[in-house]
Amino acid sequence: MRKYINILKEKKFKKEKITMLTAYDYITAKIIDESSIDIILVGDSYGMVKLGYETTLPVTLEEMLVVSKAVSRGIENSILVVDMPFLSCNGTVSESIHNCGRVLKETKAQGVKIESSFNNIELIKKIVEADIPVMGHIGLTPQSIYKLGGYKIQGKTAEDARKILDLAYALEAAGVFAVVLEGITEETAKVITEKLSIPTIGIGAGKYCDGQVLVIDDILGMNKDFVPKHTKVYANLYGIIKKAVDSYKKDVEQNKFPKNINSTKMDENEFKKFLIDVELGDEK
Ligand code: KIV
Repeated sequence: MRKYINILKEKKFKKEKITMLTAYDYITAKIIDESSIDIILVGDSYGMVKLGYETTLPVTLEEMLVVSKAVSRGIENSILVVDMPFLSCNGTVSESIHNCGRVLKETKAQGVKIESSFNNIELIKKIVEADIPVMGHIGLTPQSIYKLGGYKIQGKTAEDARKILDLAYALEAAGVFAVVLEGITEETAKVITEKLSIPTIGIGAGKYCDGQVLVIDDILGMNKDFVPKHTKVYANLYGIIKKAVDSYKKDVEQNKFPKNINSTKMDENEFKKFLIDVELGDEK
């Protein structure tokens, strides 16, 4: 059954946890959707996870649109939310509304996620007023990685925790429908979750958030070199894929693939005609 963003507040009210995962392609979205995960996020983490960029900064709006359309085609139930990539929401108000509007029009997303700061609160308010549902994102915001000086947990001091709480209040007042709390101390996330009437969705923010989000490739164990501390790995797809690729290589090299079952034969008479034609043609 199709879910809409209004269920998120209901879930918070009923103390039912909200589930969210990223997806970057049609087939993965289809699987996640089948599990009835509440929200599928096309995160700009796509740039790091799938394109091999060092940060999320190079990701473009056009790239996000292509990927989000593919993900959208795999969704029947879940709510689709799409990340607004770096610099796509920092021009004029009308440029930003135009970019967010393109996401909703072209991908059928129910909302956009915007990495938030005190500098873009007014802009977020205008986008919400244009009837574009916005999910805020605070704490360790990867698009500000150079300003933050690295991927460091936020909210470790009382002063920093207060700033994050004030930003969360400002987002709520601006009308966002939910807020992602990324890479912040558990205590800060707990206070924010208790104080806000809108749902909080945590990643590296501890257990008290109203919901949790993780990167799909992380939970599937796709990257053997790096597992973020906040992740739980539920499968070893790296190992499974590696084994499959090794077996395929061996089969081809040892002429064990393809077999008859993988091939299609010509009609015998047609084949004879073909051979005669080849011989006659080659004699000319
Ligand atoms: O880009 C992303 O995947 C995200 C989530 C980690 C929240 O922003």
